Amino acid sequence: MYRQHAGRGTDSPWYQGWEITERKRAIFRATTIAAQEAKRAALRGEGAAAAHPIYTPRLNPVDLMPQYARNGLTALSLFSGGGGMDIGFDRAGFGHVANYEIMQGAADVLKAAHPDWTVFGGEAGDVRRVNWKPFRDKIDVLHGGPPCQPFSNAGRQNGAQDVRDMIPEFVRAVKGIRPRAFVCENVSGLASKRFEDYVEATILSPLRRSYVIHQFILDAADYGVPQTRRRVFFVGFKNKEDGKRFEAPAPTHRQERSSEFAHNLPPTMGVREALGLPHSGVDGLSPTLRSGLTGPRHTTSVLSSVSALKLWNKLGVWPNGVAADRAAASAYVARDGHYRLSLPDCLVLQGFPGDWPVKPPVYFALGLIGNSVAPPMAYQLARSVAAALQRDTP
Ligand SMILES: C[S@@+](CC[C@H](N)C(=O)[O-])C[C@H]1O[C@@H](n2cnc3c(N)ncnc32)[C@H](O)[C@@H]1O
Repeated sequence: MYRQHAGRGTDSPWYQGWEITERKRAIFRATTIAAQEAKRAALRGEGAAAAHPIYTPRLNPVDLMPQYARNGLTALSLFSGGGGMDIGFDRAGFGHVANYEIMQGAADVLKAAHPDWTVFGGEAGDVRRVNWKPFRDKIDVLHGGPPCQPFSNAGRQNGAQDVRDMIPEFVRAVKGIRPRAFVCENVSGLASKRFEDYVEATILSPLRRSYVIHQFILDAADYGVPQTRRRVFFVGFKNKEDGKRFEAPAPTHRQERSSEFAHNLPPTMGVREALGLPHSGVDGLSPTLRSGLTGPRHTTSVLSSVSALKLWNKLGVWPNGVAADRAAASAYVARDGHYRLSLPDCLVLQGFPGDWPVKPPVYFALGLIGNSVAPPMAYQLARSVAAALQRDTP
């Protein structure tokens, strides 16, 4: 069983207790209390004067994924989280038959965004409990991003030994449902040499007899998302011809480091441009936003590494203490006068529609954003899958 985040208000299946000394715990507690007091004072108007006005983003992620007409293809979403993949498939023209997600808070966001979706949350959304037979041969595309902490740098890289490894459950669903195609997403670490045997034994070998499987890595920044975010995909087709026809989506946007063939593509915006901040002479892609809801403490930080901190500093953006909204961010001056991020800003940096109904608590909303597939990347992939199934709508 997953360890629950006892008494801390979350049903995240990823909570990992942290064994630290009482002294260290006291230091962390003091830092948190000091930060909370500074924030409360700022919001009462007692802090330093607002460092920045409220800016209007220049990037509207919805422009990266114009809504396609329904293509007649059905999709089933497992491990739906905050809905990144679901948005991409929906906007590419697929119709979701159902969405399964164990965290009720995440399922509530999906339901609020799409009252028309059949969302199973909490116990009813636990894929381990579902008998897939009723869906057998009735689904065109089964998609899901099984929990990735077993394979991520942030996790402990225990792979199959890790109780959060839900890839076997995804495979069980493919075998039970026998969809025409499946899309399984994970952190790019799963494509590393270290997990080669695991991938062969757990994904490829059990499914290869029935599916033509493609494996590749995509970067969200190649699809206009102002963030470096690489993910591995396994895409399988039951029909050999469909499998042959499939091509991973080509970039729609150009990153600075793109090869020459991409020079005709529009450039992906940097963080400052995307968020509508004034020119500072330096702009660039956001470092990968931290995958949230992992680790021992709730966090309102999107910081994923030491090198990411250097980059945020260069961009003049403060990645910690993300505020609930832009007004609160502007009232609470960040160290060095750097721009403080807000939840709506993080939605933009991840390629979500600005009105996606993630709500405070900030740590939980950030967790959903940080665990998601950037919707514009999912959208382009969904379009490629539809094309292989010969149902791409004009
Ligand atoms: C990496 S996230 C998926 C993100 C999603 N694909 C997106 O694009 O937003 C994995 C999700 O699987 C959920 N999960 C973990 N175990 C589960 C289970 N047994 N049944 C259903 N969902 C589960 C987690 O709560 C988490 O939201």
